[in-house]
Amino acid sequence: MNIDAIKTAYRRYARIYDVVFGPIFHPGRKTIINAMECRPGDNILEVGVGTGLSLPLYPEDVKVTGIDISAEMLEKARQRVELEELNQVEAVLEMDAEAMRFSDNSFDKVVAMYVVSVVPDPVQLVREMSRVCKPEGDIFIANHFRSRNPLLKSAENLLAPLSKLAGFRPDFDLDDFLQKTGLEVVEMRSVNLFGYWKVLRCKNVS
Ligand SMILES: C[S@@+](CC[C@H](N)C(=O)[O-])C[C@H]1O[C@@H](n2cnc3c(N)ncnc32)[C@H](O)[C@@H]1O
Repeated sequence: MNIDAIKTAYRRYARIYDVVFGPIFHPGRKTIINAMECRPGDNILEVGVGTGLSLPLYPEDVKVTGIDISAEMLEKARQRVELEELNQVEAVLEMDAEAMRFSDNSFDKVVAMYVVSVVPDPVQLVREMSRVCKPEGDIFIANHFRSRNPLLKSAENLLAPLSKLAGFRPDFDLDDFLQKTGLEVVEMRSVNLFGYWKVLRCKNVS
C-alpha cells in the first residue's frame, strides 16, 4: 500500500462510496461519536474523513476539522457540508494524515473511522494523531481487525494480496497494531454486521 495506490483506489470509490460503504459502516460511526462524549467547544480532528458521512452526526456545539488524502472523496464531503449546512465543520482539508500540518496538542479528540488499515504506515498515523492531540485527550479508532475465527481468518489471508486494489488490508491484526503503536485501549466495542468491526477508545500516548 502506498499513497498513489490509495489515491487511485479512492478516486475510483468516490462516486459509489456512499451507496456501498454508507449504511454498512454507519452503526460504527454513530457508536464512535457517542463514545467520544463530545463537550461544547471541543476541537475535534477526523482523519480520513472521506465523503464526510460522519459529519452530520457531530453535535452542533463542537468544531470539527476533517482531512483526507483523496481530493475526490473530499469534494463529496465539501458538498455535504454545504448542502446540509453543517456549521460544526470548521474545515475539510486535503492533507496526509501521516504528516499533518497541524501544531502539537491542537485537538481535544482525534478520530479515525475505517482508516488505520488503509494508510501506508499505521504506526506513523497513530504517532501523528497522538502528536496533534492534547496530552489529556483521547484517540478513537473504528476498524475491522483480523478475525480470530479460523475460517474467516483463512478467507482474510486469501484476500490479503488484493489489498492494493481494494484500498485496505483485510488481514490487519489488532494485537500487532496495539503492540507497535503502544496505544492503551480503555474501551472496546464490537459494531456493524456480526460485530465484525471494533470501536476503540484509547488514551493519548504522547
Ligand atoms: C475506508 S475510507 C473511510 C472514510 C470515512 N472515514 C468513512 O467513515 O466512511 C478511508 C479513507 O481514508 C483516506 N486515507 C487513506 N490514507 C490516508 C492518509 N495517509 N491521509 C489521509 N487520508 C487517508 C482515504 O482517502 C479514504 O477516504
